Amino acid sequence: MSDLLGDMRRTHRCGELGAKDIGKDVVLMGWVQRRRDHGGVIFIDLRDHQGITQVVFNPEVDLTLHEKAHRLRNEYVIGVRGRVDARPEGMINPNITTGEIEITAGELQIFNTAETPPFMIEDRIEVSENIRLKHRHIDLRRPSIQRNIITRHRASATVRNYLNGLGFLDLETPILTRSTPEGARDYLVPSRVNPGQFYALPQSPQLFKQLFMIAGFDRYYQIVRCFRDEDLRADRQPEFTQIDMEMSFVGEEDIMTVSEGMIRLLFKEILDRDLELPFQRLTYAEAVSRYGLDKPDIRFGLELTDLTDIVADSGFKLFASAAAGGGVVKAINVKGGGDFTRKELDDLANFVTVYRAKGLAWIKVKPDGWQSPIAKFFTDAEKQALTERLDLAPGDLILFGADDARIVNDSLGNLRNHLGRRLGLIDDATYAFTWVTDFPMFEYDETEKRYQALHHPFTAPLEDDCDKLESDPLSVRSRAYDLVLNGFEIGGGSIRIHQIDLQRRIFKALGMAPAEYEEKFGFLLSALASGAPPHGGIAFGFDRLVMLLCGEQSIRDVIAFPKTQRAACLLTGAPSEPAKAQLDELAIKVRKIQMEG
Ligand code: AMO
Ligand code: AMP
Repeated sequence: MSDLLGDMRRTHRCGELGAKDIGKDVVLMGWVQRRRDHGGVIFIDLRDHQGITQVVFNPEVDLTLHEKAHRLRNEYVIGVRGRVDARPEGMINPNITTGEIEITAGELQIFNTAETPPFMIEDRIEVSENIRLKHRHIDLRRPSIQRNIITRHRASATVRNYLNGLGFLDLETPILTRSTPEGARDYLVPSRVNPGQFYALPQSPQLFKQLFMIAGFDRYYQIVRCFRDEDLRADRQPEFTQIDMEMSFVGEEDIMTVSEGMIRLLFKEILDRDLELPFQRLTYAEAVSRYGLDKPDIRFGLELTDLTDIVADSGFKLFASAAAGGGVVKAINVKGGGDFTRKELDDLANFVTVYRAKGLAWIKVKPDGWQSPIAKFFTDAEKQALTERLDLAPGDLILFGADDARIVNDSLGNLRNHLGRRLGLIDDATYAFTWVTDFPMFEYDETEKRYQALHHPFTAPLEDDCDKLESDPLSVRSRAYDLVLNGFEIGGGSIRIHQIDLQRRIFKALGMAPAEYEEKFGFLLSALASGAPPHGGIAFGFDRLVMLLCGEQSIRDVIAFPKTQRAACLLTGAPSEPAKAQLDELAIKVRKIQMEG
């Protein structure tokens, strides 16, 4: 059998040889990172996933081999047999683990040539992300991405070990399925054998994991792909991975304890960090009141202060009318922000318009009084009350939001994060976790003119609030919880409804008639009627967790083959137009649409 490898077999990887190995005969294989010709001697930096080792071809040792080495170019794939030698004095490189040695080559095999890569296989390159994604197979050779992908593997192995150890079963659920509502659009897959009918790719395995509990499996987990057709951001992909779990005969505490243990182990294994347990907890109401957001970054202050009662009768119409109309007036005291320029204040006002705020009133506190376009509207008593509530001191900048509570909280909450970053108040080395609990059960969807489940419709309401399900749905709190890390929602779950009557009431509250919920969720209802144990669970955003463990800013940097903001795979060119014959078989006719952009 002809075999390019011949009798050459790797003895070591490119990151493991050191002074202890001097004198050994070794075989290394990998890619040419760089070739340097130095006065007749050729140096090759040989790279594999583990590191880089220097190989030396000396014409005085072997002229033919030296000539062969001349042919080497970047990214050629080679095998080298040689001897580990100490590097000469002055050539030692303390920056790499193999910096004390080099391989004096005795044999060279060129397994493959390579085209000049579109960018260097190095960490610090200035290349657009689109170019990197188009050549992802090459991008994935860069050390930082290699580290991220390997960390991802270590994280999933850690999670599996942990959950296996606790008696969780790793069980699979279907990908071609019915819609599982998690608040996003579905990806649909046409059925050829049932023309005109479609599967939905799962937004999560939610209903199947509940069915596992009803079937008696007791503890389930899966590291599973989920699909959501939603607007994409740095922390959102159309297909992403969850650590999904579910347990029977449990309450919130049990799920939180298992989750905290898993997160602690991950941080220990991957970062050698010792996290303190239990994590802090905030109710949704408190999180939104203090931080404006249900995923607060609690690493810094700049909390929101409610001033509605103080300014309700103020001469500043905007504040008074917000209060009178059932809205709120809240503010952030930016300590030391008193020297912001007019331009900077305008930029901040612009920033909040993205969150639908109509403006950003401000006051600068100077040693000799307030500087502000709105100062004149306040009485001395109101000024005194604001000074006390906001703990005002010279040098402070107060930024106000006045509108309905949703807009004020959202805009000031995001402004708070923006200011925290901009003023350097955030310690990047800190990992601040908080659970957020007692979410509202429903929110009102203005465009659809109906209630929607904030988590999902299978979440149990708080027992105390059940009697308000019909009379005052917006006041009903749920047994849902999120885990938030440094302002990212890394996980969310709930205790589920396990009784059929309650599940029917929730479907009704969501505006579904019996015929509709029977058609969509009849299988769940009949499962609930078959003897369903109390159960609950949680799912973690695995990509987000790994991103934070790797210190990255985008989940695209921890996903081997991610999609762009337009949900495209630049490497393979997906999505693409199918052949006409394929569409015919599926009985599908595509209307030509003009794509913008
Ligand atoms: P949820 O919808 O909160 O809950 O999703 C769980 C976690 O998944 C992550 N996540 C995402 N990550 C990347 N890209 C996305 N598009 C994306 N969407 C969500 C988040 C989120 O916290 N079935 C429930 C879980 C349960 O109730 O047990 C669910 O899917 O980190
Ligand atoms: P105006 O009277 O519109 O010039 O606004 C006076 C100040 O109030 C300006 O600084 C605006 O940015 C600010 N402002 C306008 N609308 C709001 C709002 N809804 N909340 C907070 N400040 C606002």
